[in-house]
Amino acid sequence: MERRWFGTTEIQVPVIGQGTWYIDSADRRSAIAALRRGLDLGLTHIDTAEMYGSGAAEEVVAEAIAGRREEVFLVSKVLPQNASQKGTLAACERSLARLRTDRLDCYLLHWPGRHPLGETIAAFEDLKRAGKISSWGVSNFDVPDLETVIQIAGEGHLACNQVLYHLQERAIEHAVIPWCEKHSVAVVAYSPFGHGRFPTPRTSGGRVLKQIADAHQATVRQVALQFLVRRSILFAIPKAARLEHIAENAGAGDLHLTEAEITQIDQAFPLGSRPGHLPML
Ligand SMILES: NC(=O)c1ccc[n+]([C@@H]2O[C@H](COP(=O)([O-])OP(=O)(O)OC[C@H]3O[C@@H](n4cnc5c(N)ncnc54)[C@H](OP(=O)(O)O)[C@@H]3O)[C@@H](O)[C@H]2O)c1
Repeated sequence: MERRWFGTTEIQVPVIGQGTWYIDSADRRSAIAALRRGLDLGLTHIDTAEMYGSGAAEEVVAEAIAGRREEVFLVSKVLPQNASQKGTLAACERSLARLRTDRLDCYLLHWPGRHPLGETIAAFEDLKRAGKISSWGVSNFDVPDLETVIQIAGEGHLACNQVLYHLQERAIEHAVIPWCEKHSVAVVAYSPFGHGRFPTPRTSGGRVLKQIADAHQATVRQVALQFLVRRSILFAIPKAARLEHIAENAGAGDLHLTEAEITQIDQAFPLGSRPGHLPML
């Protein structure tokens, strides 16, 4: 599993990680087994949030990482309505308790909300000083909001921006990715399989993926994941509650696509024009 620097943090993180949205709806034992198998296979970036199952996903993660905390790059998120300075501190304590750990590797603001960003960032910095988080980031932030973060925090503090990114939704390539590259901010692709809308083999795009997959003795989903992490600031966090899905996703971490194959995929799933606002799920 390829690992790379996560923004300006001094941590190397696997290019493919594990999402946990709706993991609490799956059979609990299977979901925990899948997360643990993911860790065995190097999918050590686990993404969760206080929102998922109103905390239930964090509790599933706690069981999965029990006894293995040191292996994990653990990320959780504060809801915008909780993201005042005091509210962020309290939300983090609740997440730590549910996750049964004393620290997060990265703590994110789930999307921009009504509380002033300065308050959330002040809380993140407090949490960092207290050793409760190692780094912080944002999610669903377009360039103007990212600029505000840098104005408040300065360069080098924002670790990542977690955003919607899959073959059929490439809006972040217009401005968010270039901005994050310029500022050394990691971009984490969420819903990399389109949250259940993966291109079928009957579509022209699906056929292109299949042809490339066959050339590598890989699968179409492995090809898709590798395309999404083709630049050095990119990471992806597919969610999988089934063991066979976990193994397949982990296999994407070592696949190498040629420039010609990347161009083929690029043409099969056109970028589209820049939308007025950043799409989110
Ligand atoms: N920051 C945000 O606002 C935000 C928003 C959305 C998501 N996220 C994060 O991103 C993660 C991933 O996104 P997502 O959960 O929306 O959707 P996703 O990862 O695009 O798709 C998940 C679906 O794909 C299936 N799947 C996974 N691997 C597969 C494989 N190899 N073959 C066939 N099917 C496979 C899963 O099935 P099984 O579960 O049955 O294995 C599940 O139904 C979330 O879990 C969450 O952590 C963040």
